[in-house]
Amino acid sequence: MTAPETLRFENHRLILIDQTKLPGELTELVCTSVAQTHDAIRRLVVRGAPAIGIAAAYGVCLAVPADETGTPGRSRYIDAIESLATSRPTAVNLFWALDRMRQIVDSTPEAELKDALVAEATRIHEEDRQMCHAIGRNGAPLLADVQTVLTHCNAGGLATSTWGTALAPIYHLHQTGDAPKVIADETRPLLQGGRLTAWELSQAGVDVTVITDSMSGSLMRLGKIQAVIVGADRITARGDVANKIGTYPVAVLAKHHGLPFYVAAPTNTFDLQLDCGDDIPIEQRGREEVAAPHGVRIVPDAADVLNPAFDVTPAELVTAIITERGVIKQPSRDAVAEHFANA
Ligand code: MRU
Repeated sequence: MTAPETLRFENHRLILIDQTKLPGELTELVCTSVAQTHDAIRRLVVRGAPAIGIAAAYGVCLAVPADETGTPGRSRYIDAIESLATSRPTAVNLFWALDRMRQIVDSTPEAELKDALVAEATRIHEEDRQMCHAIGRNGAPLLADVQTVLTHCNAGGLATSTWGTALAPIYHLHQTGDAPKVIADETRPLLQGGRLTAWELSQAGVDVTVITDSMSGSLMRLGKIQAVIVGADRITARGDVANKIGTYPVAVLAKHHGLPFYVAAPTNTFDLQLDCGDDIPIEQRGREEVAAPHGVRIVPDAADVLNPAFDVTPAELVTAIITERGVIKQPSRDAVAEHFANA
């Protein structure tokens, strides 16, 4: 199975699948500067917590053009890191990747910086590939007997280097022809489920059905969904999970119907500095995404609009968190600490 190449770094250029254009057009956007990378992350050309981190790491390298001769000073890279850190606030993977780049800036002789930074960004990218495959292996047994699984937003290959987090166990099972059927919430307002999850799963030959966000409760009541799996943008020390807006109500519905609610995320999505999910910064996006999707006005100008991009699901509603290291069952402060202690 060929997974889509969400992003790559070639000849000192960051090349991104333009996810704003999918599924209508499969086109690429080329970034050659920090400002272009910042804009691509902000506009969701590249999105999904791990992919944002990888793109930002490569973006730091673009602080100095390929053809510039001489030794660039540290300050241009530091400015790039500080700028990219303002692109989106919720996915902690962005800050984790920028911290790694900052450590290289601080610890490498200036003459070697250019190459060392590209090497570190490439390592972050490669590690993500391995983490996705490990999450696939670790999560597959949890979905092995599931006929139909619900997912929300896109936590697939398009949100990472390959395979994704929530979709990785599904791709893993698909290799042997045993993948469950997938129901994808369309995921208002930007339709990452309807546009992106449906696109990448159907490209891979996985059976996928799109529903509107309000349908999942009814399907659960009718017994048509046996499990839920989603990704995460930030997970706290007690196991509270920030993910795409609309995840929390799905978790509540799963609890009500006695269905397992799984979260799949690499360990770099954990923010162990934060205890409670209420402390996670939630991105607030512009009104037009809700009021005028695709340029068509559906809300009167006189009405206010709320557009938080993420919500928080408390740990009590999460059956298990699947990471590249294993499975945290019934996440709690102790269970999360034990998972990290056993690294
Ligand atoms: O606003 P987005 O599209 O970046 O939101 C993405 C999500 O909420 C994903 O579920 C999350 O980042 C996990 S991606 C493996």
